[in-house]
Parts: sequence; structure tokens; C-alpha cells
Amino acid sequence: MAKLKLCVLISGRGSNLQSLIDACADDAYPAEISLVVSNIDGVQGLARAKTAGIPTTVISHMDFKSRDSFDASLREAIERFDVDLLCLAGFMRILSDGFVEYWKDRLINIHPSLLPEFRGLDVQQRAIDAGVDKSGCTVHFVRPEMDTGPIIVQAQVPVLRGDTAADLTARILVKEHVIYPMAVKLIAEDRVDIKNEQVLIDGNGAPEGGFSPLTIY
Ligand code: GRF
Repeated sequence: MAKLKLCVLISGRGSNLQSLIDACADDAYPAEISLVVSNIDGVQGLARAKTAGIPTTVISHMDFKSRDSFDASLREAIERFDVDLLCLAGFMRILSDGFVEYWKDRLINIHPSLLPEFRGLDVQQRAIDAGVDKSGCTVHFVRPEMDTGPIIVQAQVPVLRGDTAADLTARILVKEHVIYPMAVKLIAEDRVDIKNEQVLIDGNGAPEGGFSPLTIY
């Protein structure tokens, strides 16, 4: 079967990109990365892509007057390659509604909380401040409203007494690197459907009262 072709969008360190590069290094993995796009030049994620021999493009948002013109240029750059699925991996720009609609159900994101809890930024510190005893990460399809959209996979981690934001971030990141390649694999194997804005995996949705059809512990 043909491999699913990915474009990974980054703005920085690229450790989630690396987890996808590592997964794709296995011949049996059903996806491959066609392109890495960064909106910031010189970031570590670009070096990771180059080391792996993956084409890269830098499109700086600073060069554009509006979000729409930035997104148009992004779209043009992506369409020069053969891409089936866009993976946001620490991409720190909000995409226009038009861009998100154009890539609807072909655009996913990873977020370091158990969505729908703690959307937005600084979520690990906010989870600690809220006194929750568990947190985690979520891979989801992107919708115009930030950090919403059908959830594909989540992983849970405990929040321990005395945790700093750095402690919790590190604990969650280990799980991010597991669930992002896992979610991409499920999509590539055509096991993911969206019905009424809920993800079904092999026809199964989230257990009653839950948000994720698949949760890793
Ligand atoms: C990750 O925590 C991801 O969940 C969030 O941004 C961070 C990116 O880290 N969206 P990296 O660049 O993949 O190392």
C-alpha cells in the first residue's frame, strides 16, 4: 500500500518531529515525511529534518502583512509537494479559518494536556495550579477554534505533589512521542473515521463520558 505522505509544521525544538522521523525510519511504518515547514529559521527541528534528508522550507510570518497572505504562501509551499496529512508539531502560529477548512480532516495537532481541559498556552503550569491529579497529551484533528476538534488519541500521566512545570512537561513529552506516531499510523491504516465530530477507531468511539477513543497510560 502507498505510504501516507506527511508535512510536519514546526517552530522550534522538533522533538515530536523527531518521533515521527524515527517512526518513519521503519520500513513497515505506513507513513513518510515529504516536507518539514518552519516559520522560524535556524531552529533545531530544521536541523533534525536535514539530518534525516527531508526537504525543508522556512516561511517566516514576519515577511507577511496578514495571516491570510502567510497562510496562502504556506499552502503554496505545501502544494509543491505530495502531501496527504499536515501534522502540527509545536507550530506556534494560529492558522486562518480558511486554511483549516481547506485541510479539514487532513490536519492534526498535538497538545500537552488532556483536551478539552487546558486549551491554549502554559498548560502544564495551569494544570499544576488547578490541583489536578492527572494530565497528559492529546492528538486531535484541527478545527478553527484553537485546541478543539475530534480527539484521536490521548495519553495520561500523573501530576505528582511538588511537580514543577518542567517536571510535568518532561513527563508529558515522553508520552507525546508515543502517541503522535501512533495517531499517524492509525490514520495511515485507514482505521480512523469522524462521525458527528467524534473520532471512531475501527468503528469504536470514546467510552461513555470520555473524549478519546483510545487512551494510553
Ligand atoms: C509540545 O509540547 C507540543 O505538544 C506542543 O509544543 C511542544 C513542541 O515540542 N504543541 P517539540 O518542538 O515537538 O519538541
